[in-house]
Amino acid sequence: MEATAVAHPNIALVKYWGKRDLPLNLPAVSSLSLTLSGFSTRTTVTWGAADDRLTLDGQPIDGKEAARVFRFLDRIDPSRPPAHVASANDFPRGAGLASSASGFAALALAATTAAGRSLDRTELSRLARQGSGSACRSLWGGYVRWDRGHDADGFDSVGHPVADAAHWDLRMVVAVVDSGRKKVGSTEGMERSRTTSPYYDAWVDTAEADVDEGTAAVRARDLERLGTVMEQSTLKMHAAMHTSWPPLLYWQPGTVACLHAVHDLRSQGVSAWATMDAGPQVKVLCTPDDADAVRAALLPHAERVHVLAPGGPAELVG
Ligand code: PMV
Repeated sequence: MEATAVAHPNIALVKYWGKRDLPLNLPAVSSLSLTLSGFSTRTTVTWGAADDRLTLDGQPIDGKEAARVFRFLDRIDPSRPPAHVASANDFPRGAGLASSASGFAALALAATTAAGRSLDRTELSRLARQGSGSACRSLWGGYVRWDRGHDADGFDSVGHPVADAAHWDLRMVVAVVDSGRKKVGSTEGMERSRTTSPYYDAWVDTAEADVDEGTAAVRARDLERLGTVMEQSTLKMHAAMHTSWPPLLYWQPGTVACLHAVHDLRSQGVSAWATMDAGPQVKVLCTPDDADAVRAALLPHAERVHVLAPGGPAELVG
């Protein structure tokens, strides 16, 4: 009645922002992501314990964060026994580095296994989505597409692989501009954008074409084509964030400095392209050969810089 799983975060190349159904966590748009090696979440679930207990990075956790985890276990079995969940990250949590994606992917795999269930990847993806939308992409390694789906119950809103990590050896250079916890979480932020931003409909209307373009660029291994749609997608998402009310301004001065550094690199002929999530960090896609130059350009504006390669799927390790 105990299982341990490891999962990696994924960074969206074409973004998810906005929900078409809040309780089922169904997205208003499809998205495309890259699962990364280097960062990971390791989660052990003991199914059948004296009480529900959560530790994150060794610290006992209660309140909203614990309620979210145990509500997720209730989805697996509404009449489940109490459970212990111990989860550890080797990177900062809640800072726009996709810790909820790796967290709920690892939890879905460890908890269903501990409960004696054997779900296939698509079923695990559908389950993980209900914990955190982007988690449905971290069940797979490499390049993953999450279709928004059309079913009212969310049955067709799952991740599926476009190409595995070996298909295209790129680097995601992550500039940690500020590792503090983000001010507004993604669920609240998405609802704020949906209900207040005059740009929200334009964001949704152009997203499917961007995901198709990104998917084709991955298949063709065309970095300029992928980078172009990636950077446009992130800037459109942030335009919807900035024009929400109250505004969602996740950017810090270092964020803007990193963006200029990326544009300067491009004007020097380096094929480097930026993306950002619900936080100040800047993630730059480039070839392995250019990763050192990109790292050096970002370093003056960041607390630290990580160079991450495509990673594998979530896996059971015990
Ligand atoms: O899965 P969530 O609820 O943490 O939302 C993720 C939202 C973004 O990171 C901003 C974009 C994305 O597609 O991952």
